Formats: sequence, structure tokens, C-alpha cells
Amino acid sequence: MRSLISIFDLSVPEIDGLIKTAEDIIENPDKYAEKCKRKKLATLFYEPSTRTRLSFEAAMLELGGSVLGFSEANSSSAAKGESVADTAKVISCYADIIAMRHPKEGAPQVAAENADIPVINAGDGGHNHPTQTLTDLLTIHREKGRLGGFTIGFCGDLRYGRTVHSLIEALSRYENINVILISPTELRLPSNLKKKYLTEGSYRETKSLEEALPELDILYMTRIQQERFSDFDEYLKLKDSYCLNTEKLNAAKKELTIMHPLPRVNEISVGVDKDPRACYFKQALNGKYIRMALILKLLEEAENDREYHPAADFIIDNLLTCDNSKCITSIEQEIQHKFRLTDAENGVYRCVYCERQSKKN
Ligand code: NCD
Repeated sequence: MRSLISIFDLSVPEIDGLIKTAEDIIENPDKYAEKCKRKKLATLFYEPSTRTRLSFEAAMLELGGSVLGFSEANSSSAAKGESVADTAKVISCYADIIAMRHPKEGAPQVAAENADIPVINAGDGGHNHPTQTLTDLLTIHREKGRLGGFTIGFCGDLRYGRTVHSLIEALSRYENINVILISPTELRLPSNLKKKYLTEGSYRETKSLEEALPELDILYMTRIQQERFSDFDEYLKLKDSYCLNTEKLNAAKKELTIMHPLPRVNEISVGVDKDPRACYFKQALNGKYIRMALILKLLEEAENDREYHPAADFIIDNLLTCDNSKCITSIEQEIQHKFRLTDAENGVYRCVYCERQSKKN
């Protein structure tokens, strides 16, 4: 049985397959209307969401299945102190598949280790958001007809924006992609992601949207992630860093594709919505179709294989602890700390749940 926690849980051919299924669903929705009859999706959302939760729910309903769940931690037993592991075990008794969003990084991984049904990560803290990435890849495929051979600019909060992190990881597996990282210094892409997923010469960093805009085939705008700042004054200082408006767009290519995972706050002015290059509402619709394809795939696989297959490449080391205060292991003491050795020479390990680096002395 397989879950989707990181975009790397899917191979490139599998992603191609999901895009193909999603495009077939768009063409032939009736063919899929009863595919998930009597199946139930549980949406466990410990953090606010509009698109992700409702597109998951709409996806399951359009497949003929049903949905149950909660949309805030306060209305679940988390408010009484129940662990993610116990919640996952309990929900396995009532549903066939789980979509989970959680403010702590690695929480959906903990759920996957404990559930008897597939778990889909619907966003974990500032870490990953693989189904938004599938949405983005479907959108790029539909708009550009390909998943490589373009210049893409990521603009805004590249430090905390999990959709940016997951999409950059995904794009590292495709050919001929130039990346321009547009952000204030304080909100730059974390250096471990740059090192791991971007090659020298294939990317550059700038603070200026105006300077980068004329080069771009795709512009991926993002919101400054207020809820992830520990210092509110810093958020106030940075919140108005970018605003794309119709005037700025005069300098952009005619075939530019403007994307945004949404919600937007003020980083794209409403006037841009009428521009044919604006794609973000289409992108939100694509999210429903790709989630239909994903639910179908994971449920079909689970029919044939009900076992959980843990990755074998980690170690449990009681001398190492993850020092990321946003990691699920920082609040749930029962979880064993697991690490992957990523640099044997320098004794560098990464937490299996949040991927934060630790060093053994
Ligand atoms: C994003 C998220 O939750 O990370 N939204 C979404 O899922 N469509 C982006 C955001 O909240 O800024």
C-alpha cells in the first residue's frame, strides 16, 4: 500500500500517467462517475484550507464516493491531546483513504506509518505540498504542452512557501528548465533545497520582479506566508514586497503563463484576472481533476496491496534529535526520531519527517 507524502513518492512515468488520467477525466467525466462507489475519503485538516480540502472532496464526490472529516484541529480529538498516530489508526476504521493537512512538518508521514489505508499529504507546515505540485504540473502541461524547456520565475515567499519547495523538487527531474528565484533576501529559497535540486548555471536569484519578468515563460506568484513567521514585525516589513499589476505585465512575453496556488492576498492585482495570461483559476480547477486521478490510483493500488512498506534506508539513533521546532517530533514525544545519513564524510543526517539537517559530533 502506498501513500503520497512527498512528490518523490511518484516516479516521472507515474506522474505522466496521472496527468494522462486527469486529461481523460476532463474529456470523459461520465466514464469515471462511479469508479469510487462505496469508497470514503477522510479529509483531516488541522490547518485552514479552501481549495485543497474542497477540491479533494469534490474529486471524491465526482468519482461517486463519499467524504467525511474535519476542517479544523479544534473540532477533532487533537484538541483533547490525541496523537496523529492514534487519529490515523481510528480513521482507518471508517474510511478508505485519508487526505491530511497539518501545521507540523512530517505529520502526514506519521499518519502513513500508522494508518491501514493510503494517506495523502495535503500540506505539512512549510515543508511539502505534493498534490499542489501535481496540480501545477497538470496546469503547465495543459498550458505549454510540455514539462520542460522553459524559464520559470518563482516570486514571493520562497522560504516558507511549501508549494514552491515541492514544485522545485519535481521540476528537477525534467530537462532544460531555467529557474529565476525572485524574493527579498529574508525570504530566499532555503540553501539545502538550492543545493539539492538546482544545478549551477540553471538558476539565479534576484529581488526584482520587473527585472526578471521579460525573460519568463511561466511566473509562479506566491503569498507571503504570514502564519509561518515567528516575528510578526518581520512579516509586516515584507508583506507588500511584490504586486503584479497590468502595467508591469506590459513588459512580459505574450505567451507568459501566470500561476498562483492561491489564496492571493495582494501580490496579484485583481485587474490581472482578465488578462488571458492569468491561469490561477484554471489551475484551481485542474486541482480537482488531478486529485481524482490520484485517489483512483492509490485506491486501486491499495486493493491489491494492503501492507505498509516502510522505507528501509533510515536509522533510529537516540543520540540524535531533530531540532526543528516545526517538526512533528517536537510535539509528539512518542515518535521515534528517525534519520537518513546524507553525508557520511561529515556525519550529516536528515530527519525522516521534516528533512532538517542534524550533525553528529
Ligand atoms: C497553498 C498552501 O496551502 O500551501 N495553498 C493551496 O494549497 N492552494 C499556498 C498558500 O497558502 O499560500
